[in-house]
This record gives sequence, structure tokens and C-alpha cells, in this order.
Amino acid sequence: MRSMRAKTWAAALALLQSLPALAQPAAPVRIEVQANASGPKINRDIFGQFAEHLGTGIYGGVWVGPDSPIPNVRGIRSDVVQALRAIKVPNVRWPGGCFADEYHWREGIGPAAKRPARLNASWGGVIEPNSFGTHEFMDFVDQLGADVFLSVNVGSGTVQEGADWLEYLTANKPTSLEKERVANGHPAPYKIKYLGLGNENWACGGAMSADHYVEEMKRYAHYMRNLNPAQTGEGAMKRVAVGWDSGNDDYTEAVMKAWKNKNWAWDIEGVSLHGYTIPNTWEKKGPSVGFGEDEYAKGIKATLKMKEWIAKQTAIMDRYDPEKKLGLYVDEWGIWVDPNPGSNPSFLQQQNTIPDAVIAALNLDLFMRNADRIHGTNIAQMVNVLQAMILTDGPKMLLTPTYHVYRMYVPFHDAIGVPVSFDAGTYAHGDINLPRVDAIAARDKSGKLWLALVNVDPNRATKVSAALAGVKATYAKGEILTAAAVDAHNSFESANDVAPKPFSGRASGGQLQFDLPPKAIAVVEVR
Ligand code: AHR
Repeated sequence: MRSMRAKTWAAALALLQSLPALAQPAAPVRIEVQANASGPKINRDIFGQFAEHLGTGIYGGVWVGPDSPIPNVRGIRSDVVQALRAIKVPNVRWPGGCFADEYHWREGIGPAAKRPARLNASWGGVIEPNSFGTHEFMDFVDQLGADVFLSVNVGSGTVQEGADWLEYLTANKPTSLEKERVANGHPAPYKIKYLGLGNENWACGGAMSADHYVEEMKRYAHYMRNLNPAQTGEGAMKRVAVGWDSGNDDYTEAVMKAWKNKNWAWDIEGVSLHGYTIPNTWEKKGPSVGFGEDEYAKGIKATLKMKEWIAKQTAIMDRYDPEKKLGLYVDEWGIWVDPNPGSNPSFLQQQNTIPDAVIAALNLDLFMRNADRIHGTNIAQMVNVLQAMILTDGPKMLLTPTYHVYRMYVPFHDAIGVPVSFDAGTYAHGDINLPRVDAIAARDKSGKLWLALVNVDPNRATKVSAALAGVKATYAKGEILTAAAVDAHNSFESANDVAPKPFSGRASGGQLQFDLPPKAIAVVEVR
């Protein structure tokens, strides 16, 4: 009888210890905000998007055609545009991804009925109708108020094809290509802010060695001429060469070495990095919904690899470019998990959960912290693909937890970083130990001070106190995104389960106190 009671107590104790939320409150975290100091400018292009001809990323998600019963403007769905305008999308990278290196721009201009139907060999061999081409994309970004990030076909295209595309888009003198653009309805030359010189050319972009890519890239960098007279000086088009990917670091080294020794005939303004968050293995990445804390912790652990990747990439760039003339563009990133059961596996459709929002916030914080080198990033992908902002199903549309982070982070666009220091504490699960809290601060263009806080711990709330050098704080108000279930998400049946709520801190003695619930992202204006 006695030993039975002892066993029951031991079992109860073990259970309590396995429930840290109930057993041990998290230690408070103290943040020092150097409100009277300035860091680098946070380029708004850090909040860029990526839209590839992949699954329903374009067809269905953005383009429904002018005859669709789904409300649209010239074929582009209005609900999606309205939602994206609210997150102030700075630029959209298009048409790929792998698709960019099989895309031939001429097939996507002129009368819709005459455009050829091709196979999208990169993504499931489905029909690519070419109804969404150059002019439709330019109309889309114009409706968003965003800039253009075009990826030119280096893998299966030619230098001449790429040069013609640039002339078609940007010429303001009456060349045949300029006249063709005018005849197709756009007299004014377009602006192209970024030109990606290929995409992952070590693999889907032509399986090129780094040295081979560099020789190709130099030709593209020379001949891709932007002829728009409005794009000179500060506003000149920026060329982004293909750089590092998780598992492949020779491209950046080769590109930077060539750049260091370049002659007058070519130049670039940036190098790319692609890095996806894979919670498990490439073969079995893990579910996007219906998981517990194990998958949560693995996902956060996997996403923190981005810090090492950026450190490695910037170390290479710093060796050849200590003055930081070139930008690092993380032009594909995000969590990549198994496709939704029953969906076409080539369409890369996945649900989006509260951990995805934590992952988005941690990465955006990291990019902002490295804003002296990182001039832009593009999350993969904007609608219906991978870590999407928006999911659609016919006429239905929902905003994902990741979308809400992008909306809450708008004050950081083009803001000036403010240094913060803190001891993050530890979130432990099994043998995984991770920083428990993250924080970033910046002053927006009107001088307002903003603070973003993340509580990574999915079980334990945490108290955060913030001391602001040079400011006797009296006010901290904004929004918080959190949810009870570890895989909480929005569905077409219940689209607002995960949505931001008002949130505020308490001021006391010139400092601010915050109570952050588990797995939460908060953004507040501080006065
Ligand atoms: O975003 C999906 C794919 O991931 C892109 O097409 C490719 O560049 C990367 O491998």
C-alpha cells in the first residue's frame, strides 16, 4: 500500500516536471534599448515577396482572368491585392524560382488567345497557359504599389533573349521592341528595380559549376541594359548574382572573387542567398498542421540555421567587399514542410500556423539586425505556396499567421535600427535548447520608436522589462499575435482564429513591463 502511494507521488512529480508551463514560470527578461543611438537603415525590401509560376501561386491565387466571377481588375483578383496592399509589399520577385530558368518572355505578351500553352516542367508538368505574362505582372505590382524584381532566364535562355526583354520593358526610343510594347498597351517604359541573374544555377538553373556560372553571369551583367532614363544614379537597376544556398557555398566565393577583379564591362550590386527551414529531412520534412511540441521545437531550431548561413555569407562578402558596396539578398527563404494531404505534391501547398509566424518574426529580426549587408529578402512564397501570406480556394481567401506578422512589422520598413541588448534565456524541449526571447527596435521615418518582442517558448508566459536609454517611457501600445494550440492556424471555415489583438505594456519608473504569453509576437510603439 505504501509503495503504491510512493509510486503515485513519483508519477505525479514526473508529470509536473514535464509540464514546465505549470511547474516553473519563465525567468523575466531585461532588455536595454539604446534609444539615443542609431544602427543601419532597415531597407523596406527586407519585407519583399516572391511569386512563382508554381501550383496556384499565380493561377488562381493572383490571376483569375477578366471573365472570372471572382472580383478582379483586369484579371487580377481584388481581394488578394487589397490584402497585400495592407502589408505594403515593397517588391515582388517573379517569375521564379526554377521556373524563371525555363521562362521565355515572348510567350507571355500579345493577344491572350495567341499565347502558346507550354508545360511547366519545373512544377508538375501542368499546362502553363501564359495568360499571366509581362504586362499582367507589371499591372499586378502596379496595383500593389510595389517594385519589380525580375529573374532573367540564364539556364535555358540566351543573353540576347534577356537583353531583348530588358529593351522591350525599358526602352524610351522608337526601337522595334519599344514599338511592340507601345502596341501592347504600355507607352511609358517600365521600371525594374532588381534583376536576378538566374536562379539556383547549380541545380534547376542549368547544373552549372560555380566557374561556369560566373562566366555566364558576367555576360548577362554586361548586356542586360536598363534603358529607362528615369533609372540612373540612386535609382539605377540593381543586378543580383546567384550566391549561396544551404549546402553550396562555392558560388558566393566565385562570384565575389570575380567581382573583386572585374573590369569596366560588367558589375553587379548584390549576391543572393537561398535558405529554407526544413524541420526534419528533405525527404520527410514534417507536417504543416496536426503536430505537437516536438515539431514546433524542431522547426524553430531549423530556422535558427539562417543565422549561421548569413554569418558565412557575409564573411565571404566582407573579404572581397569590406566597404559593403554589394547587398546580400536572401531572395528565397521560409519554412518548407510536407504538402497538404491530397494536394498535388508539386504545388507545394502547406498550412500556415502560429509557429510559422514565430519563424517569420525571428528571421525578419535577424535580417533587420544585419541590415548593413542585407538589402532585401523575399519570403517563399506570397500566395498558396510554401510559407504563404495568403491562401485561396476558388473565391475564398484567408490571411495566414505569417501575413499578420508582415502587417505588424510595417513600421520597420525603411526605419533606422536602434541597438538592443538582452539575455534571451533558454527554451528547452528534450535535448533542444533555444533562445527563449527575441527583441528588435527601430525608429520609423516620422521618428516614432517601435519595439518588437517574440516569446519563443510555446508553454510559458514571460515577463519582459525594457529600459530605454535617453527616454523616460510612459507608453507602449500595439498588437500581439498568439494562439493556444501549438499548431493553431486559420482555415476557410474559421479564418480569424489566429489574428492580432491589441496589446500594451505598463510604464513604471520610466521603464516598460510586458507580459508576453507563450508563442507570441508583439509590436508596440513606445513613447
Ligand atoms: O520556392 C520553391 C523553389 O525552391 C524555387 O523555385 C527554387 O528556386 C527553390 O529551390
